[in-house]
Order: sequence, then C-alpha cells, then structure tokens
Amino acid sequence: MLRRLHHEQPESFAFTPANLAWAEGQVSKYPEGRQASAVIPLLWRAQEQEGWLTKPAIEYVATMLNMADIRVLEVASFYFMFQLQPVGSVANIQICGTTSCMICGAEDLVAVCREKIADKPHTLSADGKFSWEEVECIGACANAPVAQIGKDYYEDLTAESLSKLLDDLAAGKVPVPGPQNGRYASEPLSGLTSLKEYDSGKTQYNASVQLATDLGDTIKRIDGTEVPLLTPWLGKNAVSGKAQPPKLAVDAKPANKQKPDLEVPEDDSDKIAKPPVKPAAEPVEGQETKKPRTMKAPRKAGADDLKLLKGVGPKLEGVLNQLGFWHFDQIAKWGAEEVAWVDEQLSFKGRIERDGWVEQARILADGGETAFSRKNK
Ligand code: FES
Repeated sequence: MLRRLHHEQPESFAFTPANLAWAEGQVSKYPEGRQASAVIPLLWRAQEQEGWLTKPAIEYVATMLNMADIRVLEVASFYFMFQLQPVGSVANIQICGTTSCMICGAEDLVAVCREKIADKPHTLSADGKFSWEEVECIGACANAPVAQIGKDYYEDLTAESLSKLLDDLAAGKVPVPGPQNGRYASEPLSGLTSLKEYDSGKTQYNASVQLATDLGDTIKRIDGTEVPLLTPWLGKNAVSGKAQPPKLAVDAKPANKQKPDLEVPEDDSDKIAKPPVKPAAEPVEGQETKKPRTMKAPRKAGADDLKLLKGVGPKLEGVLNQLGFWHFDQIAKWGAEEVAWVDEQLSFKGRIERDGWVEQARILADGGETAFSRKNK
C-alpha cells in the first residue's frame, strides 16, 4: 500500500496545552542536539490527539524538533502505526491477518468490518465513526484472532463478539479490552493445568487489561475527555468525513524547510497552544551582527531566572550573565543582528531562533508565562 499524505488536510495543528507539556517533557529526556530522537513519541501523541497524522501535525513536530519536514514525513510514512488518512472518529479497527489469526478466524472478522464499516479498508464508515484495516502479526498470537483498537487489544474474537464490540463502541460504551471469550489471559480455555497457585491473588483483569482500565484511557485520546472521540471536523452528530471534508487541499510534496509553510493560528484561545518553538534559523550568508546593549551587573532587584527560557540551562545562564545579559527585557529587545551576535558567542549555533528566546523573553518580561516557564517555575 502506498503511504503518502492524504489529499485533504486540515489547515493547522497544535498540541493541546496538556499534550504540549507532555511533549516538552519527552524532548527534555534527550541530550542536547539529539532532540530528534523524540520524533516517534511526539508523532504518536499528535496522532492520539487528532486520530490520524495530518500534514500540519507532521510539520508542527518537525518544527518543534528542529527537523526538516521531509525527515519527519519519512518516519511517519515508514511506520504503519501512523495513520496518514482520516480514521473513524470512534475507532480504527486493526484486524490481525497473519497466520495464527487467519487460521483462527480473522477472515470472519474482516467480513464483519466489511459489512458494518466499509467494504474497503482505510475507508470511513458512512457515519464517520469507524474505519478498519488489516495488519500484520501484533504479537498476541496465543489469543488469536485479535483486533487492536487504539492502544488496546481485543482478543479471542469471533464474528459475533466483534460485531457486538462495534455496536457497543457506536453506542458510546468502552468495552473492556483483553480476551473476549472469558479467558483471563492466554491460559487454556478449560482452565489452568499447572502452576495453579498463581491463580490466587490476581487482579480482576490480566495485567495489561487491568492497566488499561485503571488508566481509563482505553480508546480515548490521552487528555481527551470525550468518548466517543470526535475527529475535529466531524460534528457531534458524527457527520461523515466524506460529506464534510477538511477545507484545505494540499500538495503531497513535503514542505521546504527553508520556507516553512507551517502556519499555526495565533493563540487566541486558552485551549489551543501555539507551537513552542520556531524553525531553526538557517545560516544566513552575510548576516550583519551587532552587539546588544549589555549590563555589568543585574539590577538591584536581582537578575531574572533566565532558565525559565526554554533551551537555557544553568551553564548557558552563566554564559549569558558573563556576556552581560541578566534580564528578560534585555533579550526581548534583540533584533536579527543582535541575535546573530549572541549566537556567535554560543557553542551551539541557531538555538536562539530555534527555541524562540526573544519571543519567550517578551512574554516573561511582560509578566506572562510560557508553557515551559509554567512547568519549570
Ligand atoms: S498472528 Fe495475529 S497476533 Fe500474531
């Protein structure tokens, strides 16, 4: 199957504040210069938020990680866990079609999907709530046949149990994942024949199902509050994506990083977060530099905590202080030439632009907060 960007795309993407805070936490796990290692978790979280990976989401993650859009698209298009086209607003049913599951009835499950969802995989149901696809072995062969929905496995399925599962999901219920035939885990259907002492003291469900139900985010977006989930452009009445397509049709050609076309709306709502960082500045030939105004010491009230700027740690704060920068309002005044001058003094070029120090400093100098400063106060 060709994996490429869907021909219809929403206009923008932004992590919710909670997801943005989570994403920044993921990025901070990696050493300086290796932030790109967070690409898969960030893409996954973007997919969990939107249901599928849109072009704006891919560009957003690329911007956040200072990667070329094409590099992130390569990751997104390589791994089948990433959905590059709209999926059902409630669930995308992934039926395992590999040997064990095929022998144990995967074809019957596919038939149910064909009948109840859509004749072809990767197609939205008429009400937009469901989609389905066949996937390769998902590693639960002892409980074949299996379907994955979101992060959870529904195991030991039959045509009847899958059909009921779909009905329950459509009705807004959250079916308990795991074996659907009464098994606890993958023990013999007739019960344990050995190691029976391990049968005592167990939780209501097996470990993974227990965790899923305890976390309570089965088939829900990570910070979503609604079940069933709604794809943003699908109304609460679950109008089909076909009937109400996203507005912007885009060229499948990946964006040119030197001319980023990522445009995320201004943060005029407390529900939508602006992208936390700006695209890295490409080295500009002949960029004039100008030393900003510096101070020999902080003002009497004391220096600002420059570590509240994303990308500034204790070491870098010391360097900035040595250069004569103690306050957010100093940094807030830097123009392109000043940024170029300070950049030359730092060992890791491009970080001022990349991390958006000037924009952050403006907010902090005005007494505001950024997502990063709020988290690190
Ligand atoms: S063959 Fe279906 S989970 Fe392995």
